[in-house]
Amino acid sequence: MAIIRVSQDELVQRDAAISEIREYYSSLCLSKGRKMTYSVRTYGCQLNESDSEKLCGMLEQMGLVSAPEDEASDVTVFNTCAIRENAEDRLFGNLGMVKADKKEDKDRIIAVCGCMTKIPENVDRIKKSFPYVDLVFDPQQLHLFPVYLRDVLRNRKQLVNISAVDYIVDDSLVPVFRKRKFRALVPIMYGCNNFCTYCIVPYARGRERSRDMSDILRELDELACAGYKEVMLLGQNVNSYKSSDGKTFTDLLGEASKIKGFNRIRFMSSHPKDISERIVDLIASSSNIETHLHLPLQSGSDEVLKRMNRPYSRQDFLKTADYFRKMVPEGSISTDIIVGFPGETEEDFRRTLEIVEQVRFDSAFTFQYSARPGTKAASMPDQIPHEVVTERFARLLELQNEYAYRSNLAKVGRTEEVLIEGASSTAPDILTGRTLSNHLVNFTIPEDLKDGSKSSDDYEGLLCDVLIESARPYSVDGKMVRLK
Ligand code: SAH
Ligand code: SF4
Ligand code: F3S
Repeated sequence: MAIIRVSQDELVQRDAAISEIREYYSSLCLSKGRKMTYSVRTYGCQLNESDSEKLCGMLEQMGLVSAPEDEASDVTVFNTCAIRENAEDRLFGNLGMVKADKKEDKDRIIAVCGCMTKIPENVDRIKKSFPYVDLVFDPQQLHLFPVYLRDVLRNRKQLVNISAVDYIVDDSLVPVFRKRKFRALVPIMYGCNNFCTYCIVPYARGRERSRDMSDILRELDELACAGYKEVMLLGQNVNSYKSSDGKTFTDLLGEASKIKGFNRIRFMSSHPKDISERIVDLIASSSNIETHLHLPLQSGSDEVLKRMNRPYSRQDFLKTADYFRKMVPEGSISTDIIVGFPGETEEDFRRTLEIVEQVRFDSAFTFQYSARPGTKAASMPDQIPHEVVTERFARLLELQNEYAYRSNLAKVGRTEEVLIEGASSTAPDILTGRTLSNHLVNFTIPEDLKDGSKSSDDYEGLLCDVLIESARPYSVDGKMVRLK
């Protein structure tokens, strides 16, 4: 599969399409006597969140405004995920629900993009069962969305365009509409070459390609100047980052940590096979790199890891975790674990429970194995019966919850710096944020620290010290002691 750079010609075409769409919607706005709106519904990982910010950036340039939540919009884009079957089911359910909106107003546009579109069966199903979907395109051609949308508006018939090409996109060429005013998502590499036998990502996102380090550093400088406090360096496998001039992820992280203005530099995901002691040393010696490592384990059994095509052993994983605990004692380790991979025996599963106890993960995303079409694992013998998977899953969850709670409990009595993310969704006078170690903190502001001119939303992106007073399974509670 060829990897190509976005050409100047494509960018000219894209900008022309944006102008044409803008004109179309401004006349529709006059005839309907209201603003024209968009919504982008995002499923899946942070990379998809980042793609959605680009889709929103392009939609804003077309003169559309974000639709109020739960209101039908004039352009709805579903940015899908294919990682597990339930993510796909949600899309099909939601597509069924927008049928009525489309019937109500035939000018409404429905587009589907994201990882699901790279699985031919999904595209066939959309064509067959959801003919009212106007546009289907894949994540490798995000920057061409305006061109496709223009064609749909001109021709008024379903357009399906799935490319066989992996693009290298210089992200500064795509407008971004950032959802959070303090956090910037910055992809540094795209795709994946690892082909873990259960995973759809290499099929959906194509081969690994890294952005130039100079482009990334320029973007980071601009973000710091614009006042962003937190940056999240993203990739399916950030530590296999390699720029065309041979720079590695450690080089990039080191340079990023020197940029003045960022209080938090986060990165995900790291692959255990590529994590080096140098990265851990850098975390230990920098004040603005989060003291948190997301290191997906998947299984604690060497046999299962082998069949998953994860080229590390439980011993390698433990060694990395031990080194991190030694060098960053206040830090946290999170992980991903799959339960019920084909052929997983009770003994294999116990090895997973054992390593959970040894590493004491501060948090974990636990998943029931889901067979993905076209992957090697989908046709492996000994697929595990559903009831066995759910029973093991419950045991793992119970154990991991205990360690997550203990990790939160260890924070009680400490005063930690928190980057405020906003008001809690359930109680508006409670603020929420994260420590440098990525612990989630809910806290109140004592009367004497309250600033009457500020609403809860005004605190978003500010730093404060919080005294942590109690722990819950997934968060800690406390009170602000100083606003910075
Ligand atoms: N690139 C990252 C993971 C991306 S996908 C990494 O390798 O660490 C996020 C998580 O989804 C994976 O870590 C894995 O735990 C889970 N996952 C991927 N495919 C899955 C499948 N077929 N069934 C269940 N969980 C899956
Ligand atoms: Fe999937 Fe493995 Fe690549 Fe992660 S490293 S995206 S789990 S194939
Ligand atoms: Fe899902 Fe694609 Fe991310 S499959 S997890 S949205 S890369």
